[in-house]
Amino acid sequence: MIVAIYGSPRRRGNSSRLLDEAVLGAQSEGATVEKIVLRDLKMSPCLEIYGCKKEGRCVIQDDFQTVREQLLACSGIMLASPIFFYTVSAHTKILMDRCQSLWVKKYWIDQIDRHERQMTRKGLFISVGATRGKKLFDGTLLTVKYFFDVLDAELWQSLLYRGLDLEGDVLQHPDYLEEARQAGRDLARVAAG
Ligand SMILES: Cc1cc2nc3c(=O)[nH]c(=O)nc-3n(C[C@H](O)[C@H](O)[C@H](O)COP(=O)(O)O)c2cc1C
Repeated sequence: MIVAIYGSPRRRGNSSRLLDEAVLGAQSEGATVEKIVLRDLKMSPCLEIYGCKKEGRCVIQDDFQTVREQLLACSGIMLASPIFFYTVSAHTKILMDRCQSLWVKKYWIDQIDRHERQMTRKGLFISVGATRGKKLFDGTLLTVKYFFDVLDAELWQSLLYRGLDLEGDVLQHPDYLEEARQAGRDLARVAAG
């Protein structure tokens, strides 16, 4: 199973449309895809109370608990977020921070050696920004790499698009959409094998 995480507040925004294509690509290869639309969920930010120190589970009872199960059950992750102030959207960052509970389990409770950890999942990251600067995605890529790391996922592929701003701008770029669809197909194959 592959999870597709929609991180934009816009339902039909640029990153969501690209992720839709990736989902279709994965499904065309026979993959089961579970969509997680963050803007529809009730998810508190991490409160840094470290209730997770006991059992490695976040103690805040909200929609994160279901998402956690999905993240642990999947073999592939697709994450799509727009760039907001040179990082991921707030919706996306809230999910990432709640996964600190998984970090606590992995490194504090189970004491996994960083060099011996198994990267059992494949991760695809899709992002878009309005500007065209060389460094537009630099910070975000580090953030996503370490978020995926907590999920035992390798940052397998990133699709990063500059110069997209208004809702639907990506529709002017059928090549971007096709690239996303192909990445979905490829992810389904590598995540299955
Ligand atoms: C709060 C906010 C912050 C943004 N910050 C940046 C930024 O730092 N760099 C950039 O290039 N675009 C920035 N943008 C523009 C978005 O990345 C751009 O509109 C993108 O296409 C939105 O993607 P979406 O349609 O998937 O939501 C920002 C937009 C918003 C609303």
